[in-house]
Amino acid sequence: MTDTKTYISQNKDRFISELIELLKIPSISADQKYKGDILKTAEAICVSLKEAGCKKVEICETPGNPIVYGEHILNDNLPTILVYGHYDVQPADPLDLWNSPPFEPVIQKTDIHPEGAIFARGACDDKGQLYMHVKAFEIMIQQESLPCNVKFLIEGEEEVGSCSLEWFVERNQEKLSNDIILISDSGMISNEQPSINTGLRGLSYVEVEVTGPNRDLHSGLYGGAVANPINILAGMIASLHDENNHITIPGFYDKVIELSRVERDEMAKAPFSLEEYKKSIGIEDVYGEKGYTTNERNSIRPTLDVNGIWGGYTGEGAKTVIASKAYAKISMRLVPDQDPDEITEIFKNHFESIAPKGVRVKVTPHHGGHPYVTPIDNIGYKAANKACSETFGVPAIPQRSGGSIPIVSLFEKELNSKTILMGFGLDSDSIHSPNEHFGIFNFLKGIETIPLFYKYYTEMFTE
Ligand code: BES
Ligand code: MN
Ligand code: MN
Repeated sequence: MTDTKTYISQNKDRFISELIELLKIPSISADQKYKGDILKTAEAICVSLKEAGCKKVEICETPGNPIVYGEHILNDNLPTILVYGHYDVQPADPLDLWNSPPFEPVIQKTDIHPEGAIFARGACDDKGQLYMHVKAFEIMIQQESLPCNVKFLIEGEEEVGSCSLEWFVERNQEKLSNDIILISDSGMISNEQPSINTGLRGLSYVEVEVTGPNRDLHSGLYGGAVANPINILAGMIASLHDENNHITIPGFYDKVIELSRVERDEMAKAPFSLEEYKKSIGIEDVYGEKGYTTNERNSIRPTLDVNGIWGGYTGEGAKTVIASKAYAKISMRLVPDQDPDEITEIFKNHFESIAPKGVRVKVTPHHGGHPYVTPIDNIGYKAANKACSETFGVPAIPQRSGGSIPIVSLFEKELNSKTILMGFGLDSDSIHSPNEHFGIFNFLKGIETIPLFYKYYTEMFTE
């Protein structure tokens, strides 16, 4: 057994119980009610980094939630790895769909995680994954094997658009300077087949409001004679896709980079079972843009999805009413080279243009983010692959993800460095959903793999 493996097997119960303590704090960034818990979590991360042996750790105030910054510099001639993670989590609702309370972590075995998984909001996204980095660092300090400089940048607003981090990065380029950024906030193919993310989708997120009559009306007295905002909104939304599930907004695809046949064939080599995919989410058939496979649809193609829609009467029983207003929240996942501001603008223009007279439409943009792709011919990718190959026993497969971490493209712009997305979650871990969990196997495998990334990256850097 390697030294790292021995250390992990001797300390794994403590690692798990420390993570469980962290998961008990409901650091929900979307709801101001949890501000106190946000501060408590930042404090806890700060303490854990100090205890792991990080020389300088501080809580940096921002206009929003605090950022935890840690720094352990050995020597200016060595490379510097900047580790990014987020301590905030998504809201836990709907609460009644959880098998155990979201902030009372429990360990339970599942088919995919026979060694057990920790069930709690944030277990995988991203407290569990960022904590792997804290423990990997502890190991390197304890074993005196840390080969390079490290900076930790742990924020508390990722799930709401990273506004304060953007503010912080723009003001602290020097402080955050690094040679490579390492993030574990994504997933891999399976516990038998590691993969490294080579891309993230961008995001444009808008809220739309359709207003009809100046008040809610009796649906018998007025029904049929006025535009019903809910009917109209539903129709407008339906018109945003054609019969082939292409998005109909003029100009939407103008900047989309089409992958070559060769690149698509390469992608298709990744192990994937459509049957298992359907079974895992309980659907009879998949659905999506004509001409593309499921894995292409959810990674290299842009999308438009309604995330929420409301208006009118939704209480018990029936109320006959034509609502004055209807609302929807719509996300568009973007791929290179789509620009979130441009897409938001053309969405707005199009959506306003398709509204019939008799309603008014208001489009309000929310946060957005640029897509990101990273090359695989750099030493960061090579080091990650070598580390994964060693701990999993098989080489990693490069794979583009459908999710978004908007700050990654900003890192590239402001800090001029590439990001390696070495995540250890699984798609089936239910991030953002009820019963989110993170496999004990994945947690420990991450802790084992990270020091090897440091080692191989530093070796390749100095070669
Ligand atoms: N960790 C996720 C993103 C992710 C998950 C990337 C899996 C790749 C694989 C992140 O916390 C997240 O949820 N991002 C949001 C975007 C943000 C602006 C709210 C997302 O993708 O919806
Ligand atoms: Mn995340
Ligand atoms: Mn998330």
